[in-house]
Amino acid sequence: MDKVNVNGENANELLQAQAHIWNHMFRFIDSMSLQCAIDLDIPDIIQKHGKPMTITELVAVLPTLHPSKACNIYRLMRVLVHSGYFALQKLGDGADEDGYVLTHASRLLLKDNPVSATPVLKAMLDPILMQPWHFLGTWFQNDDRTPFVTAHGKILWDYCGHDSRVNNSFNEGMASDARLVNSILIDKYKRGFEGLNSVVDVGGGTGTLAKAIAHAFPHMDCTVFDLPHVVAGLKDSGNLKYVGGDMFEGFPAADAVLLKWIMHDWSDEECVKILKHCKEAICRGEKEGGKVIIIDMVMMKNGKGKEELMETQLFIDMVMMVLMTGKERDEEEWAKLFSAAGFSGYKIIQILGLRSVIEVYP
Ligand SMILES: C[S@@+](CC[C@H](N)C(=O)[O-])C[C@H]1O[C@@H](n2cnc3c(N)ncnc32)[C@H](O)[C@@H]1O
Repeated sequence: MDKVNVNGENANELLQAQAHIWNHMFRFIDSMSLQCAIDLDIPDIIQKHGKPMTITELVAVLPTLHPSKACNIYRLMRVLVHSGYFALQKLGDGADEDGYVLTHASRLLLKDNPVSATPVLKAMLDPILMQPWHFLGTWFQNDDRTPFVTAHGKILWDYCGHDSRVNNSFNEGMASDARLVNSILIDKYKRGFEGLNSVVDVGGGTGTLAKAIAHAFPHMDCTVFDLPHVVAGLKDSGNLKYVGGDMFEGFPAADAVLLKWIMHDWSDEECVKILKHCKEAICRGEKEGGKVIIIDMVMMKNGKGKEELMETQLFIDMVMMVLMTGKERDEEEWAKLFSAAGFSGYKIIQILGLRSVIEVYP
């Protein structure tokens, strides 16, 4: 076989190359199959079953399944076992069927898991956010700001302002991520909030993170600042208040400015503008020694031995290019932004897995 050549290429290598292309060509099947399992409520149904669930049991209780499709559910489950969302367990006692159980990943998709990743998955796989991927090549050949603009004629934030379904889905997705980050941040970064009397969460969405901070530090004034259509109708309570506006025009003063998943949405020039407003807001605050607290990724330069994490960083960087004008940055790129905006120093604190807390000092 080794000696067989096709068009001058070793046949084995050629077939391997073909399999490589097929696997990448069909990678959307991972995300679409997962979305389908969530649409059919499969993780929650298996969880409620309380023990390994056979395909016969699963098919019998799927509430919306059309009988003519029952024979295909095992195919969906087979690919999701392969991608690590379910596992098969022996039932013992000579049972001729194995049972499906959840894995760590599918437990994180359960509806009543307070840090469920389902809302962010639904938001990112929404057809409106998926369509721009078909325009990536076109975008490289035109002068539109983003492939999202090429697909929809306006930037994502304006689109959200005009389509309440997409707005709610995006905000709920962000809130679900914030719930996961909250629990870790408040615990591992307590020291970072100590001594602060006020904080403004710029681009703080519907306020999930600010609410948790306001609750953990009741003496601190917490402001959520976001676009008017995001904070519309949200009620101030206790030490938490909402302010609508455009961060490129400035925002309320505070001892610390929080920027969670904001900087990676924007180009270098836009980031420098935001950071300059942060400096102004901190200097107008009451406290000496205020800071900007950024929660974002610091790109690895070399992913050797950490291929899966590297892949996530590369993917999220592409998402930033397709949906927004932003990018993921390595430490050098971050440092350049901070100095261009007139900050004197920074510290990277690695407590959030793929993301870091970056403290930036005026
Ligand atoms: C990726 S989301 C992050 C939300 C939140 N910080 C979190 O991590 O859960 C970016 C946020 O920036 C807000 N945003 C976009 N443009 C803005 C602007 N010009 N002024 C204020 N907020 C803006 C969006 O509405 C959105 O809530």
